[in-house]
Amino acid sequence: MITFVVNGREVHSEQPGDTPLLWVIREELGLTGTKFGCGIAQCGACTVHVNGNPVRSCSTPVSAAAGRKVTTIEGLSPTSEHALQKAWIAEQVPQCGYCQSGQIMQAAALLAKNQQPTREQIVSHMNGNICRCGTYNRIVRAIQRASKEA
Ligand code: FES
Ligand code: FES
Repeated sequence: MITFVVNGREVHSEQPGDTPLLWVIREELGLTGTKFGCGIAQCGACTVHVNGNPVRSCSTPVSAAAGRKVTTIEGLSPTSEHALQKAWIAEQVPQCGYCQSGQIMQAAALLAKNQQPTREQIVSHMNGNICRCGTYNRIVRAIQRASKEA
C-alpha cells in the first residue's frame, strides 16, 4: 500500500508501485480534472504538483508520491479563486479546455516561486505544455494578469 496526501487528504493506493500516478488520481480517487493527453511526458495535460513541483503524472509512478503532497487542479484553491483561475476567466483562455488544467498547474508552480515573472520567463516555463487549440497568447496574458494581482 502506498500512502500520500492529495489536496490535503491522506489517501492510500493499493495499486502496484509502477502504476502511473495519473491513473490513481483519475481512476482510483475520481479526480478527473487532470487529463490524459500523450502518456509520454510530452504535452503537460496531466500536470500536477508533487511537494510543490510540477510533474507529468502520466509518467510518474505512484510510488514516487509515497509520503509526499500531491496537488491537483481540484485542490489548487478550495473556492476555485486562485489568482490564475480568476485571470483565466478574465482572459477567456480556454477553447476546448482539454489542456487547461495542466496549463494552470504548470503556471501555478511558476508563480509560487516567482510572483513577478518576465514574459520570457513565462514563455520558457510554459514551453512544454501543448495546446492544440493554440491558446498560448491568452495563457501568457492570464499569467501576467495573475502576477499583477498576486
Ligand atoms: S499526458 Fe502526461 S505529458 Fe501528456
Ligand atoms: S484549449 Fe484545447 S487543447 Fe488547449
